[in-house]
Parts: sequence; structure tokens; C-alpha cells
Amino acid sequence: MMDRFLFVLGSNWQLSLAELDNYLKNSQNKGRIIDYSATIAIVEFENLHKDKQYVNKLMELQFILGGCQKIAKIYDFIDIQTIHDAFPLNINTYQHVVKVREKILNILENILVGKNLIFPKAYESMFYAVSIYPNLYDDDYYTDILVKHFLLFLNTEIMEIIKRKGSTKVLYYKYPDKNIKSGNLNPIFPHIVIKYELLNENRAEIIFGFTEEGVYIARTFTVDDPNFKKQIDEERPLKEFKSSISPKLATIMLNFLNLFDSREKKRILDPFVGNGTILLFALLHDFQIYGSDNDIEKVENTARNLNWLLELLEEEIPPLFNKRIARCDIKNLSENYEHNFFDGIITEPELGPYYLEKPYYSQVKELIKTNLQPLYDDFIREAYQILKPKGRICFISPIINTIDGGEVQINIEKLASKNNFKQVFLLDTNRLVRKSNKKLQFARNQIKTMIDAKKGQIIIRKLYVFEKA
Ligand SMILES: C[S@@+](CC[C@H](N)C(=O)[O-])C[C@H]1O[C@@H](n2cnc3c(N)ncnc32)[C@H](O)[C@@H]1O
Repeated sequence: MMDRFLFVLGSNWQLSLAELDNYLKNSQNKGRIIDYSATIAIVEFENLHKDKQYVNKLMELQFILGGCQKIAKIYDFIDIQTIHDAFPLNINTYQHVVKVREKILNILENILVGKNLIFPKAYESMFYAVSIYPNLYDDDYYTDILVKHFLLFLNTEIMEIIKRKGSTKVLYYKYPDKNIKSGNLNPIFPHIVIKYELLNENRAEIIFGFTEEGVYIARTFTVDDPNFKKQIDEERPLKEFKSSISPKLATIMLNFLNLFDSREKKRILDPFVGNGTILLFALLHDFQIYGSDNDIEKVENTARNLNWLLELLEEEIPPLFNKRIARCDIKNLSENYEHNFFDGIITEPELGPYYLEKPYYSQVKELIKTNLQPLYDDFIREAYQILKPKGRICFISPIINTIDGGEVQINIEKLASKNNFKQVFLLDTNRLVRKSNKKLQFARNQIKTMIDAKKGQIIIRKLYVFEKA
């Protein structure tokens, strides 16, 4: 149990899980997801945990992954039956409950204070926040039992134990009463972990992460820094207010290019650069970035945004940097760049007009036939030319919701295979454990694409990855 880590997944948990598994399969830090739920993944590394500097490695990993909120080290595990016995939906015999709770208390007693434990020693003043990550947020067991009873139990008992070990001043994070009463509770967000300094030795976030198998008890070691990403996304000089790609999705897409080593030497291109969201995050992750767009205004916007970010990062502007963002129509891409030049291509092409209401089926069919399909066709053909062999393209294509004909989309697979691209699966679920809850299962073994959508969106983003055969 000592060498396992708990990863808190982003809100799109399937995509976060796929990103993490792809990393564990293809980067230098090999490992396996040995258990998961809709909120967490449990990871066993082949070697990383043996590294003396493993905390630094985890921080790097945290920075690289777009769909990971926190990484915590696991100290123990309690199987689900024990939890259900100690905190049943209906209490029959109180004696039995008390007995099983004793067992849980014993486990807590053994992992809280001491060398190589959650707190290395009893400090005079200590602080902790308990975060419960449920199997699924809409589980009744979470809202009725875990939030209302288990949390209270943990907060009081952990306090007792720590005091017994010698600390005189112990405080814990109090969630708002109204959330506890309603059962509608989110574990603390990364910025709270930072604000309360819960990575300090005498302070901690203690995570109780549930799967169908049981609860993993872990201490948070690193968290995502959402403020910095938000700053890049929102404070850059030029941005569009209509829904543009999120920093998280851009970062996840970068990782599906499978370029994990020597990123500073890897050339990547966004040929529909817009205001440059993808390139801003690619620059943050050290890639050699190139971009183009057929709209000169967008080209200028991106160049300005990138210069702004370099300044913010206090990095020098590389020579000829602005030349790397150029005006180019997608049709002529391969005339503007050497063949086999790029290590990866990552982009969000035109997704269709910004609909305020759902369009008609025939309208969308026409749009796809006359605009989008030819555009994607041009893109895929041209991308093939300038990509290195075995290089990957990772891009978004739209699913458009219509009033009268359901979802309509472009047949991307056909365009890609026509152009000699081989599809890369986003997730091979054979690498995961089986789950009995339908909501945690995947439709098939090989997941070819995934979507990134908010409720009620008319245009939904669908993610594809292909490799130059
Ligand atoms: C959905 S936007 C990309 C948004 C970008 N991801 C961002 O965050 O700002 C698509 C871009 O494709 C560009 N575009 C449309 N047709 C094009 C074409 N034929 N050749 C090159 N660029 C094109 C548009 O000017 C627009 O900037």
C-alpha cells in the first residue's frame, strides 16, 4: 500500500483517466491504474516511487497532466464491506457498528503521526482538512452517509488521535453547514489546499478516496495551480469571449501527441491557431511552437498573446519567434513548411457557426458538405505531408445537435484513412479493472474518441488522434 498514489481526476473523468493511462503507458514513468472511480484513479508506478526525488517527479507530473487536480500518497486502504458495516444506511445493532468503527480507528491510529506517516511527528500546532471523494457524486451513500456521518466521525476522531500523540493546538477545515445538511458537498478545491498551506508538514489534506472496492486513505502531495492557468487564459491581451477551447483540454491534447521527453526540441504546429489558446499552453510546456491561420488578425492576435506570455514567464523572445506564426490557408499548408518537419500537429479547426439555438438537420448537413468536410479533408491531407513519420495529429471535430435530426458529425475516420492515417485509441480498457456500476463502465474495449462537453452545448467537441503510418 505504501507505494501507491491517488490521482484526483478532472471533471471529465473519462478523458482524465485516458490521459493518465496514456502517460503511464508511453512516458518514461511507466505504471498502471490499478483501481478507479468517477473521481479518482489509483496508480502503481514501476520505478518512480523508488526515486529519492519522487515528490519532485510527482510535481512535474501534476504540471504535465491537464486532467489531474491533485496527487496524494496512499497510506492505507479499508475495504468497502467494513465501511458499509461501520456506516450502514440503516443501523440494526449499534454494537456491531461500534465494533467495526474500532477497526477503522485502529487503522487511523497507525497512519496519522510518526516517521513516514501522514504527519512526520506531533507538532505543537496542527491543521488538517478531510476530503471525501465518492465513487460517484450522485451516489446516495455519499450524500446520506459519507457527508453526514463519516466526515463528522473522521474530523472528531482524527482530532482526538493527534491530540493524544502530543499536539496541543489542533484545528480542522470546516465545510459549510448547509452543504453538509444537503449532502451536496465538494471536497476542497486545489486553491484552498494552497491557501491553507496544506502541503506544509504540520498541515495536511487527508483524502478518503472511494472506489467500488473500498476507501484509499492518502495525503495530498501536489495540487494543480488553477490560478496560473486561469491567468494565462483570461488575462492574455486578446481573447474571444465565445466558448474557446479550455486550458485543460488543450493540455490533455498535447499529451496525446505522446511527446513526453525533450519537449524543448519538439516542433509542434497549430494550423487553425485563432487566438492561440493551444499554443499558449504548448509554450508553457516548453514545446517549439508554430502556428498559422488564414485570418491575418488572428495571426497578429496570437503573436501578441505569445509575446505577452513570454514576458510573464520572464523568458527571452527567441530570434525570429514572430515568424513562427504565419498567415496560411489550410489548403496550402504543405507549401509553407518542409515535409516531415513537425513532431506533432494539434488543433481545433472551424467547428461551425456560433449557434444561439439548435439548427435544423438539413442546414447542418449542408454546412458539413460544403464547408466543414472539405476543410477537414484539406487539413488532414496537408498535415500528413508536413508531419514526421509516426508523428501524431490530435484535433477536435464538432458534433452538432439539431432540432429535428439529433446529432450530426463529419466522418473523420473516413477522411483519415483515405489519407493514410492510422487511428490511435484514446483508451484501452483492458488495462483497467472491471467495474460493476454501469456509470463506471466503458462502451467498448478500445475507445477511439472522447467528447468534451458542457450541459446544453449545441456544438460538442470530439477528440481524435491519428498517427502517420
Ligand atoms: C475554432 S477557431 C480556433 C480557435 C483557437 N483554438 C483558439 O483558442 O482561439 C478556428 C480558426 O480557423 C481559422 N480558419 C478557418 N478557415 C481556415 C482556413 N481555410 N485556413 C486556415 N485557417 C482557417 C479561423 O480564422 C479561426 O481562427
